[in-house]
Amino acid sequence: MKELKHFLKFSDLNQDELKYLFNLTRDIKQKYKAFEPCTTLQDRTLVMIFEKNSTRTRLSFELGMSQLGGSSVYLNTKDSQLGRGEPVADSARVISRMCDLVMIRTFEQEMIQTFAQHSTVPVINGLTDQHHPCQVIADIFTFIEKNGSIKGSTVAWVGDSNNMCNSWIEASEILDFHLHISSPPGYKPKDLSHFKHVKFFTDPEAAVHHADLVTTDVWASMGFEEETKLRRHAFQGWQVNSSLMAQASKDALFMHCLPAHRGEEVSADVIDGPQSVVWDEAENRLHVQKALMEFLLLGVVVS
Ligand code: CP
Ligand code: NVA
Repeated sequence: MKELKHFLKFSDLNQDELKYLFNLTRDIKQKYKAFEPCTTLQDRTLVMIFEKNSTRTRLSFELGMSQLGGSSVYLNTKDSQLGRGEPVADSARVISRMCDLVMIRTFEQEMIQTFAQHSTVPVINGLTDQHHPCQVIADIFTFIEKNGSIKGSTVAWVGDSNNMCNSWIEASEILDFHLHISSPPGYKPKDLSHFKHVKFFTDPEAAVHHADLVTTDVWASMGFEEETKLRRHAFQGWQVNSSLMAQASKDALFMHCLPAHRGEEVSADVIDGPQSVVWDEAENRLHVQKALMEFLLLGVVVS
């Protein structure tokens, strides 16, 4: 029987597995665009648990599973027993007896760790306060589609050291690219000493200098809404706008996981401009999620 594998953070996949996943994503995407059938997960089922809002993550998993021949069930805290205090471990034992895969979007990483510990099927992190690994796989796939490879490239992260930033940090170590981070005082990543590919800059212009990709995210993530006003003040100077983009390499791409706030973390001319690949990035969530589900369920021979 295939070994049980969870995807709770980016570093749960090694370089070979990621390379396999990128190739599989490319094949799945090509087939989908060509109207060729690709129903590798026929009769398989996915349960999605959402404790936070979502558009892209829900669509990409739900439609992805259906396109692969399987089906999915959406649960949220409001109308499942999870919201009435049923222990996470018991929920995991029950839910995993009835399906083949579980995707969870929640607050604390500990919740999905506990769930995975008691689950008999693979568990996927669809975003926690600490990590958003599915999005970063899609972002890197998009970068590779445009540039061939990410190895040795420079990615500039400008803004909050949030879940997205943490997944980028892990990705840089595994896929060998340079990550330049600039965040306002008080919003820096905690300890970067173990990460040899990551450099912190107090000045966002210095972080972006010669970068091949500039990326950012909202100033106040889900769960931090009450800090919105405070953060709006603290993050002034960390907006990705055309003068910041001008510091990057001439062909640099701009990415944002979305949803975005034009006029806050990014100016409208950048997100809607020629260097922005945010719509490709969003679409690629679908293709990447399909490849990830297939990989976790069917496994792979890594060459
Ligand atoms: N980027 C992303 O995860 O979007 P959703 O919150 O819409 O799922
Ligand atoms: N950092 C954002 C990402 C949303 C997809 C959040 O957690 O709200």
